[in-house]
Amino acid sequence: MVIAIDGPGGVGKSTVSRAVARELGLAYLDTGATYRAATVAVLTAGIDVTDCDAILREVTARSIDYGSNGITLDAVPINAHVRSSEVTAHVSAVSAHAPVRAYIVGLQRRWVHNHGGSAVVEGRDIGTVVFPLADVKIFLTARPEVRAARRAGDFESTGTSIGEIASALAARDDADSSRAASPLRPADDATVIDTSDIDISGVVDRVLDLVATSEDDHT
Ligand code: DC
Repeated sequence: MVIAIDGPGGVGKSTVSRAVARELGLAYLDTGATYRAATVAVLTAGIDVTDCDAILREVTARSIDYGSNGITLDAVPINAHVRSSEVTAHVSAVSAHAPVRAYIVGLQRRWVHNHGGSAVVEGRDIGTVVFPLADVKIFLTARPEVRAARRAGDFESTGTSIGEIASALAARDDADSSRAASPLRPADDATVIDTSDIDISGVVDRVLDLVATSEDDHT
């Protein structure tokens, strides 16, 4: 079973996805971390984020993996590095290149296949592109001010004002939603959940209900 959980930053995607995976005993893949790892490779190699060919050469020469220790680049854990503000500022540009996406989507599909074909997969285009046949598709949203306040609690934003966080989120939403290759948007058959006024356990319960309904539909 594949459960796709998509949406912009600050909607509670990671917390909800991890909790759902734990409840159901499924593997969990954070696809944003794979694009962030590619961005670490690109930035450390000093490659211009607009140079698609150079990015693709670099990314395909490195090994990106996701496991119980989180995200690794050439088997080295880079969990803190991928959350740095420098990586956050450049990840949308790196992930906007269609050939780079095609390569990384291949990694993501292989990862799920290697985990028995069952996982909770979190991202921006999981229900639309990566797993269009996912058993359950969720798209999480929240009001902009709620998302900024949540991000203000993240370690990556230490010392940054809520106003700055809100504009950075808006800029990333804009870049992720307006790119030609797999823009951020809900799949036609996704269930959209606004998490603004629901706590995490409430959202997790909604997702688990949808999973149970989909299992009933298949029996
Ligand atoms: O979920 P996140 O903030 O870690 O994602 C970082 C960036 O990666 C996001 O701004 C766009 C890109 N991304 C993507 O293009 N497709 C995905 N499935 C996941 C993330």
